[in-house]
Amino acid sequence: MKSIQMVDLATQYHRLKADIDAAMNEVIVRSQFIQGDAVREFEQGLSKKLEVPFVWGCGNGTDALQMAFMALDLNPGDEVIVPSFNYIAAAEAAALMGLHPVFVDVDEHTFCIDPVSAEHAITTKTKAIVAVHLFGQCAPMEQLMNLCKKHQLFLIEDTAQAIGAQYLFSDGRTMYAGTMGDVGTLSFFPSKNLGCYGDGGAVLTRNEGLAERLKMIRNHGQKVKYTHEIIGINSRLDTLQAAILGVKLNHLDSFTRARQDLAKAYSEAFSKISGLIPPVISAQSTHVFHQYTLRCTAGNRQALADFLKLKGIPCMIYYPIALHLQPVFAAVHGNLSLPISSQLCDEVISLPMHTEMTADQQEYIIHTVQEFFHG
Ligand SMILES: Cc1ncc(COP(=O)(O)O)c(C=O)c1O
Repeated sequence: MKSIQMVDLATQYHRLKADIDAAMNEVIVRSQFIQGDAVREFEQGLSKKLEVPFVWGCGNGTDALQMAFMALDLNPGDEVIVPSFNYIAAAEAAALMGLHPVFVDVDEHTFCIDPVSAEHAITTKTKAIVAVHLFGQCAPMEQLMNLCKKHQLFLIEDTAQAIGAQYLFSDGRTMYAGTMGDVGTLSFFPSKNLGCYGDGGAVLTRNEGLAERLKMIRNHGQKVKYTHEIIGINSRLDTLQAAILGVKLNHLDSFTRARQDLAKAYSEAFSKISGLIPPVISAQSTHVFHQYTLRCTAGNRQALADFLKLKGIPCMIYYPIALHLQPVFAAVHGNLSLPISSQLCDEVISLPMHTEMTADQQEYIIHTVQEFFHG
């Protein structure tokens, strides 16, 4: 059996090699490395796929969040609500702009932002909520949209981990993650569900005015070359990366199905183990399983991680420290009580999850976890 990895990018490349190589070669031959045709083609493909009118590629998912804050005209001192059980990007981009990240708790089942905790944190300075679709399923968008409407706040969707997930509204409508709020953001970091071969990201919106600002912001605030109307940044999606993404976009549905099938097999096997809670799928969202993250509730997570390592199985802790307790934020936010975020940081463990996993690899992982708990 081939050695097991958290994510197997090399095997995926070999499977798609002919198309990827041809797409990259075409970019090199044409030598339009910045804002070449492949960028626009990929943006159009993604716009169609996610049923959202405006999609602009950018440098990475962190820039995408910063661009969203800039386009929404947030100013130093404005407060932005973010979940504490999360990757640092949204809080970091906010802090970088002089905004104040305000950390709130998450739901213990879905790991996504808790709208009740978010509402408690709203002050007269609050300008926006960042809904993070963590690990691959949608945050409770209907409640968050109502909350934002009630308090006149912007809603930003960090969709770095959930491309293609669909949210089900109470009236039966469904929409794709990233297309429901004011601005959605994506990351195409190599290990993401749709990943390129370096850094990449995108912003999504339905609002024409915001779309125009976002497009200018990613390219030094200009619409017409050398006429700079607003302050922007340099955050463009490389043409080479767009060409790779264009090929991989055609496979996104099958990538997602492969992840969902693996998750189903994992959860069927683990649901009978006491002390281990498989990921809960919200009734309002599909789950695209960027991560397969279990809760290890009997205090033996480290022992499980050590056992897996001994058996040649990698695992990861996403995330070991809640954001309000991170050294960079703890001086100001460390006294907050966000019990679910803190508890999850002590309990979660993520297993290998990628499109190339073989049946015998997954059987071995399942068998090894069962062996740890049952001997
Ligand atoms: C939830 C979330 N938001 C934002 C980002 C930032 O994306 P990037 O690494 O492309 O800047 C990531 C990346 O891991 C992420 O997981």
